[in-house]
Amino acid sequence: MHVETAIVPSHVAVIMDGNGRWARARGKPRHSGHRAGVKSVRETVEAAAERGVQILTLFAFSSENWGRPEDEVSSLMRLFVEALRREVAELHRNNVRLRFIGALDQLSDGLQAKMADAVEKTAQNTGLTLNIAVAYGGRWDIANAARKLAGKAVAGEIDVDAIDADALSGELQLAGLPDADLLIRTGGEQRISNFLLWHLAYAELWFTDVLWPEFDKAEFARALAHFAGKQRRFGQTGDQVEAAKC
Ligand code: FPP
Repeated sequence: MHVETAIVPSHVAVIMDGNGRWARARGKPRHSGHRAGVKSVRETVEAAAERGVQILTLFAFSSENWGRPEDEVSSLMRLFVEALRREVAELHRNNVRLRFIGALDQLSDGLQAKMADAVEKTAQNTGLTLNIAVAYGGRWDIANAARKLAGKAVAGEIDVDAIDADALSGELQLAGLPDADLLIRTGGEQRISNFLLWHLAYAELWFTDVLWPEFDKAEFARALAHFAGKQRRFGQTGDQVEAAKC
């Protein structure tokens, strides 16, 4: 049984919520909240790398976000293209490895091409792994993995009895990466919203009322301090966890 003793989480997942409310409070259109959110993304990536986090997974656009008004969806897509154009060189200089997860084939050809370029350019980097979830849903991810395993079973490549949690996890979008240790959600709501359902099984949860455009290194530090104060038991008793440390 693996017992986590690390004080800094290896994998931090973030639900970046509150852009729209931030904009409304300033009498601005929702889109300006998303634009302001890019600065918080930059700051969070820097903070994660500085604090020794190895993997950062950001929820940029959910499967369900396609249902937002058309002009908001298209302005978000333009913002992603623009952010890639502006940020990738800097991420590369900082040794960040960029990856995207989600139903990327639902995105425009232009955006897909820019994402593929960014992934290729940063593939050999050895610093922070930055996963950006776009057109992503936790249920979609799990259903996809189940379908792939079923296909392999039907083709006779694997035995049905070989389908277990490890096999399923090996077909998920984040295959090969460890589960999330810490989930941060800004914007005051306390829910998972179909994010990394599988990978959040034992994550510590940190909710803050701070709206995403105001999220900064100080708030990130608060989330990490919350994590550092937690005893992670993974189903064991507190006494067992303490004994394993000796
Ligand atoms: C949720 O706030 C935020 C989003 C759906 C979009 C997140 C996108 C960014 C932060 C832009 C930049 C991202 C990258 C990766 C470059 P909301 O609109 O639901 O806010 P509300 O709950 O206040 O309405």
